[in-house]
Amino acid sequence: MSKLWGGRFDKATDALLERFNASIGFDRRLYAADIAGSIAYAHALEKVGILTAEETRAMVDGLHAVLAEFDAGTFAFLPSDEDIHTAVERRLGELIGEAAGKLHTGRSRNDQVATDMRLYLLARIPVLREHLLGVQRAIVDKAEAHLNVITPGYTHMQPAQPILFSHWLMSFFWMLQRDLERLDDLTKRVAVMPLGGAALAGNTFGIDREALAVELGFDRISENSLDSIPDRDFVAEMLFWAALLQTHLSRLAEDLILYATAEFGFVELDDAYSTGSSIMPQKKNPDSLELVRGKTGRLVGNLVTLLTTLKGLPSSYDKDLQEDKEPLFDTLDTLELELPIVAGVIDTLRLNAEGMASALRDDLLATELADYLVRQGVPFRQGHHIVGQAVRLALAKGCGLRDLSVADYQTISSYFGDDVHDVLDFRRAIEQRSVPGGTATAAVKVQIEQAKVLWGGRTRKSAMLFS
Ligand code: ARG
Repeated sequence: MSKLWGGRFDKATDALLERFNASIGFDRRLYAADIAGSIAYAHALEKVGILTAEETRAMVDGLHAVLAEFDAGTFAFLPSDEDIHTAVERRLGELIGEAAGKLHTGRSRNDQVATDMRLYLLARIPVLREHLLGVQRAIVDKAEAHLNVITPGYTHMQPAQPILFSHWLMSFFWMLQRDLERLDDLTKRVAVMPLGGAALAGNTFGIDREALAVELGFDRISENSLDSIPDRDFVAEMLFWAALLQTHLSRLAEDLILYATAEFGFVELDDAYSTGSSIMPQKKNPDSLELVRGKTGRLVGNLVTLLTTLKGLPSSYDKDLQEDKEPLFDTLDTLELELPIVAGVIDTLRLNAEGMASALRDDLLATELADYLVRQGVPFRQGHHIVGQAVRLALAKGCGLRDLSVADYQTISSYFGDDVHDVLDFRRAIEQRSVPGGTATAAVKVQIEQAKVLWGGRTRKSAMLFS
């Protein structure tokens, strides 16, 4: 079978180059987008008189038949099918004859592939969005169901101040909320139609690009063919979006892996999300979370791959751009598999409130003592110093801050009164932080309510019914 572009060539393509050049192995998944684009384009050609009504009908019917073959998995690829665009056009010709040759009038694979990629993404983004919401819902459900659980909060991985476990959980909700907002924002830039730009300079037949955009579900048309044909910013944005989301998931995974160790003992992963060791019978490993952490290199790598491909490209289409596909597909596939797993891990996670309680060391309350002194009129810096001495005294005595007597405290500073032990209480320390965004129960409840408002007040179950 001769190539679409074979007219000016004397010799056959080198066999290795043929393989090197072909994208059909990975761009075949664009078939539905490619065919939708061609159906709309046939309508546009009819409107400008390139196709008769009869030819258009035959072409559209033929394209539907090709689509059905792909959907059924019966489409027979030929070695000559260089890419998805070639394969669809070749098959259309077999089904409807010579008239198929009119479909590509005024169109180039350059504007075609750019359009296909955008259509493909517009179809997959809602799926990713639902999966992301699923993780957020799992977080909020868990946070709401275990609002009373107190855990040490850390900075520098050193015990810092007590917090609600739900406050920790909700911190990831907000990271993912920004990811969700970023996804919605970038979708606006995906929904721009380059079709009609042809190879680089624009369509010669006066096709109605606005009507094409409406038919294909784009928000608007691109302004400059030279910009929009090679524009892969939308792919780069998608890959950055995914890399940052993955970074958030990786951090969540890291915390949970640590909290699930025997040494911490704060949480236990469900068996369904753990695996065993081939040699050590006692092992229950958090492989699910380790892979979540591990996929980060891959997703960041996909972003770097694309940016490196785009860097230094001269104006308009270059074949380098074919390298946009595998990183994008790999990232989308990874997240689609991964996000429901993350939701499942959180959903089934068992919290060990006692384990967390036994990790509540007295020095997590040192700030409470300093704040106590502030309320007695001591400048904070001075209070900080005084409490440092109390910490040293406790260390010297081999006891905790709560075990020091009022007399002990008063040897350090006369500002300490009989009521000093009242502030040495984990629950009290938490409830003191009722500022919006703080860890007090009421403040965390506000976060949970805010999260629900963001979903239009839907609870998890009703959200599933509606979706
Ligand atoms: N397979 C190509 C790609 O993915 C399609 C566009 C080819 N255009 C061309 N002028 N050779 O980028």
